[in-house]
Amino acid sequence: MLAVVRTPNASLQALAAQAGGRLRVVLGDLCESRLGGRLAEELQGEPLDRLIVNAGIMGPLESEGQRATAAELGELFLTNAVAPLRVLEALAPYMAAKGVAACLSSQMGSVSLARAVEMPLYGASKAALNSLLQNWMAGRQPSFAVLALHPGWVRTELGGASAPVAISDSVAGLVTVIESRAGQAGCAFLDHQGQVLPW
Ligand SMILES: NC(=O)c1ccc[n+]([C@@H]2O[C@H](COP(=O)([O-])OP(=O)(O)OC[C@H]3O[C@@H](n4cnc5c(N)ncnc54)[C@H](OP(=O)(O)O)[C@@H]3O)[C@@H](O)[C@H]2O)c1
Repeated sequence: MLAVVRTPNASLQALAAQAGGRLRVVLGDLCESRLGGRLAEELQGEPLDRLIVNAGIMGPLESEGQRATAAELGELFLTNAVAPLRVLEALAPYMAAKGVAACLSSQMGSVSLARAVEMPLYGASKAALNSLLQNWMAGRQPSFAVLALHPGWVRTELGGASAPVAISDSVAGLVTVIESRAGQAGCAFLDHQGQVLPW
């Protein structure tokens, strides 16, 4: 198992040390164009059963949107939408036939729900991710499942202290959802409780 982080992390290193060689930590930035290729080399020919692209950023809030710079907007859309697709594209040849590739999206990326009033640029970046995933699927039609996942509103740095969902509950739900989709080709937009979200 590979865990990719851009910043060395003591708790992840400790987990890797306990895992007896089953977990390797790889340093990499999601926005690095060569990341997918580097990870493919790390696989050393092993098929990839699960790919989870979790990293994402909030970007400018609604109140800051009008003043956001081109660099901020570029970073937001590269991190949240384009870079996950690059990783998926690079690693698709290594995916197991009954594998699952999941990208952390957001219910704010649902165009029809329109729930990103406070964070419309973030919502637009996740809508862009969803669109890229759907079109990638339509073009490639792979045998493995591709998921856009909403983790709930979770108490993380991004979600904030008042978010109702604990990280452990979100992660447990996401793992169940991902495992339930193994062997089912196609693209789905689901939350951490397995509810289907409208695109
Ligand atoms: N929390 C929520 O309520 C919520 C709701 C809907 C969707 N989501 C999505 O769920 C995912 C996880 O969110 P979170 O709440 O855990 O966010 P978070 O607390 O802000 O953590 C984001 C993580 O992404 C990493 N990251 C950001 N940019 C990166 C890059 N360029 N390369 C590598 N790593 C990068 C960060 O690494 P560093 O530690 O190095 O900064 C951090 O570990 C995101 O895609 C987010 O959009 C979250």
